[in-house]
Amino acid sequence: MSKTVFVLNGPNLNMLGKREPGIYGGQTLEDVKQLCVSAGADLGFDVDFRQSNHEGTLIDWIHEAGDKAVGVAINAGAYTHTSIALHDAIKAVSVPVIELHISNVHAREEFRHHSMIAPAAKGVICGFGTASYILALHALKYTIA
Ligand code: DQA
Repeated sequence: MSKTVFVLNGPNLNMLGKREPGIYGGQTLEDVKQLCVSAGADLGFDVDFRQSNHEGTLIDWIHEAGDKAVGVAINAGAYTHTSIALHDAIKAVSVPVIELHISNVHAREEFRHHSMIAPAAKGVICGFGTASYILALHALKYTIA
């Protein structure tokens, strides 16, 4: 039986494909969803893929994942760098959470170098384009299995 994992996306990721393509590439969020569903199926995961521009919604989904999923991969977008509330939500659930980013945040502006959520996450993947999502699913597989 497949295990459910949540793949959560934060603010502005609905704009993928149109948004700063030199940094984030030309794939849309729908393309990334298909990648995750297909890579997840190969790993025995049923991927529940979601996006919200609202911090509270992301927090509600992390809580929900604590009851319904075996793990979470999250691209929290800019909330990565600001949100103590997301940090606390990750701490509040017992399922592993992998932080991921499309771009290499450490090679960009200084304000992207710090993550509020990394200390609460199992680990962090960044800089591999949309393949970061697939790598995060593999990381979950290793973490859970
Ligand atoms: C991002 C990096 C963040 O700094 C930025 O705010 C994003 C996208 C990434 O996937 O590279 O929205 O999380």
